[in-house]
Amino acid sequence: MPIADKMVKMVESASMIRKMFEEGIRMKEKYGADQVFDFSLGNPDVPPPAVVNDTLIRLISNPATSHGYMPNTGFPHVRKAVADYLNQEYNAGLTPDLIVMTVGAAGALNDILRALMNPGEDILVPAPYFVGYHQYAFVAGANLKPAASLPDFHLDLPALEKAVTADTRVMLINSPNNPTGVVYHKQELMALGKILDAAAKNSGNASIWFPTSPTGRSPMGWRCPACLTSIPTPLC
Ligand SMILES: Cc1ncc(COP(=O)(O)O)c(C=O)c1O
Repeated sequence: MPIADKMVKMVESASMIRKMFEEGIRMKEKYGADQVFDFSLGNPDVPPPAVVNDTLIRLISNPATSHGYMPNTGFPHVRKAVADYLNQEYNAGLTPDLIVMTVGAAGALNDILRALMNPGEDILVPAPYFVGYHQYAFVAGANLKPAASLPDFHLDLPALEKAVTADTRVMLINSPNNPTGVVYHKQELMALGKILDAAAKNSGNASIWFPTSPTGRSPMGWRCPACLTSIPTPLC
């Protein structure tokens, strides 16, 4: 069955990372798994900690565990646990009703962008940016608007200030950043928050930015300034 014309280009330009991952599978079949080192997806090459496996086994062995539908926003006790964790780690001031469970960051971003964006509005991103953002903007009917970063990949605040217009609805930011790996300083995040707040007051738009790595921890576990709590105007 033919797919919609507007989707053809999107499918053709679908995630480069996925294409590399699939190429890795093909090369492993051809040359042997021990001959190919696949750095495409962030797949762990070590087993999960025992506590993860043990907890899953305990949960699925419990006859009270449901495998049926749950509330659309997720189980209330899970939403509360996430809010408690973020409050404990970052004093984030979140209540469980502000937490919605999704399957991964792509699911969360697609949902939230479709909920927030009016047709033709802008999503601001510091460049370079995560490869999936084009698709997310497309699905939301929005424009992806990149703004240059500094040569060391930190935020170019004047460039971002210039890029914000009355059409800017959302800014996407993540730290540690994918793809650059840069960890934004607390001061630059606070300064960015002030720029977005001022722009929001001028345009009448709510100032919104989305930390896609809101935990503020690197994969190795060390803390970095959390985007989530650097915003002067709360999300709620
Ligand atoms: C910045 C960023 N956004 C979105 C995603 C997609 O996340 P997920 O695979 O959890 O859907 C990733 C994945 O690496 C990411 O790094």
